[in-house]
Amino acid sequence: MIPEVLTKMILYFKDDARRINHALKVYGFAKAISSGENITNDQKDTLEIAAILHDIGIKEAEKKYNSTAGKYQEIEGPAIAERILEECGIQKTVIERVCYIIGNHHSYNKIDNIDFQVLVEADFLVNIYEDEMDADSIKTIKDKYFKTPTGIKLISSIYNCAFS
Ligand SMILES: [Fe+2]
Repeated sequence: MIPEVLTKMILYFKDDARRINHALKVYGFAKAISSGENITNDQKDTLEIAAILHDIGIKEAEKKYNSTAGKYQEIEGPAIAERILEECGIQKTVIERVCYIIGNHHSYNKIDNIDFQVLVEADFLVNIYEDEMDADSIKTIKDKYFKTPTGIKLISSIYNCAFS
């Protein structure tokens, strides 16, 4: 299931290696964080699939609105994810949950469960590095958005320079 979704994401992004790498990194951190948390097998599935596909709306957002802003990714992402996941034969309830997370993944007030929370933390761990955020931004992100003990442990370890 997961390998098929990974391959489809890679093919969907075509030659956009940066976005493919971003998705793979978020997926890796999501797995690492969830391994230290209480999470059901179903939530692990929705988290891992959402991590792989969370930014899948970005190409359509660029095409239609000439923007990569979060809200446009949220609008465009779910329909593309749904199509990919139907092709993979993923069950409807899983697709619905994944689409909810993708459709709200920049709307932090919509976080309603551990799968969504871990996805947001994993995305931040990657974005802090890719966007070369400064120490103050890292501190704010940690205080405001990190909730899981494992996520807090990882952000403190990787970006410890920001907290010393
Ligand atoms: Fe992302």
